[in-house]
Amino acid sequence: MKIAVLGHGTVGSGVAEILTERKTEVSSAAEKEIELGAVLDIKNFSGLSYSDKFVTDYSEILDDPEIGIVAEAIGGTEPAFSYIKSALKKGKSVVTSNKELVAEKGAELLSIARAHNVNFLFEASVGGAIPVIRSLYTSLNATGITEIAGILNGTTNYILTKMFREGQDYFSALADAQKLGYAESDPSADVLGFDAQRKIAILSSLVWGSTLHTEDIPAEGITNISAKDVYLAEKCGFSIKLIARAKRLENGKILARVSPALVKKDSVLANVNDVFNAVLIKSETAGETVLYGKGAGKLPTASAVVADIIECAKADGNIKSVFWQNGAQNTAADKNSHRERFFIRTLSKACFMPKGTDEIEENAYITPPLTEKELFMLEEKADEHCRFISKIPLFE
Ligand code: HSE
Repeated sequence: MKIAVLGHGTVGSGVAEILTERKTEVSSAAEKEIELGAVLDIKNFSGLSYSDKFVTDYSEILDDPEIGIVAEAIGGTEPAFSYIKSALKKGKSVVTSNKELVAEKGAELLSIARAHNVNFLFEASVGGAIPVIRSLYTSLNATGITEIAGILNGTTNYILTKMFREGQDYFSALADAQKLGYAESDPSADVLGFDAQRKIAILSSLVWGSTLHTEDIPAEGITNISAKDVYLAEKCGFSIKLIARAKRLENGKILARVSPALVKKDSVLANVNDVFNAVLIKSETAGETVLYGKGAGKLPTASAVVADIIECAKADGNIKSVFWQNGAQNTAADKNSHRERFFIRTLSKACFMPKGTDEIEENAYITPPLTEKELFMLEEKADEHCRFISKIPLFE
């Protein structure tokens, strides 16, 4: 079976490389011969062992009956969306690493794939090399998942590690993350939390069966975290991590958010560093499960794309458990239905903190559990002199 790769950037080139250099292993896993058939890119890449496979016209791929699987690694919504739709309608399975597209158009593409009895798989869209999506629709499928939380962005975890453990400055840590192929082409998606927002939207949609829209997931990135916050957090036994989380409340609504959070130093998530990601899954029957691995980078991400290629090649028809729909059942929960503790740093001594607040150092506090509204009211009360400099939730 021949495979077409769309886009020869970081991930696409990794997929083409694995398919070429590990052809025997991939074919043996797929139980049939797998061969790189074409690579679509506007640029010409000479000097590669597969340079003769480059095409610039997508119809050459679409109209080639020997190409059974298309691996999309262009990124963004267009032309990726149109290319994927036309491939599925032609009876070709599609695999992708494109989280923006899966978060936004996943339900529609899954439904087209189902109608044409082919697969649309996207393991590489969340957690790089970690088989999180596969674990969710296979082993953990019937466990009654109640919550998913994790470190889902490799770039920001790398930056936080380099800045606060190794003393590197923000811009050089970001530049290294870009050089290493971790960051998005526009890295603001990483550092402002939008990449993790798309990833938690995908996991929630898959687990609870209907689209959780990114607009319903408040996202805050790492740009406001200061060395002082990290120092104080560490002093009271916490690390600061960018945490993406989604929880199904008893009323069936989903409470989701991406934000920096204080994580107990002895917890698994606090010890996830550099480009590594980890996903904590809580369920009724399996309890807590943690999946850990490389969350970004050329070959780790490409390995997840290739795993999907192998699954598509082996599948006899559409895999029914990978599915969600657009619908009302996954609506966002009222943010005030939930209370959590906050780490707060103020400009000067705050004399209005609620009962049960711990003063951890001068002008730094940990509050008792508060709703978002209660926190907002507290902040409103703060006058110019003791206004909040930082407010970071505790992940407990
Ligand atoms: N920019 C992403 C990250 C790439 O840093 O996690 C992998 O999705």
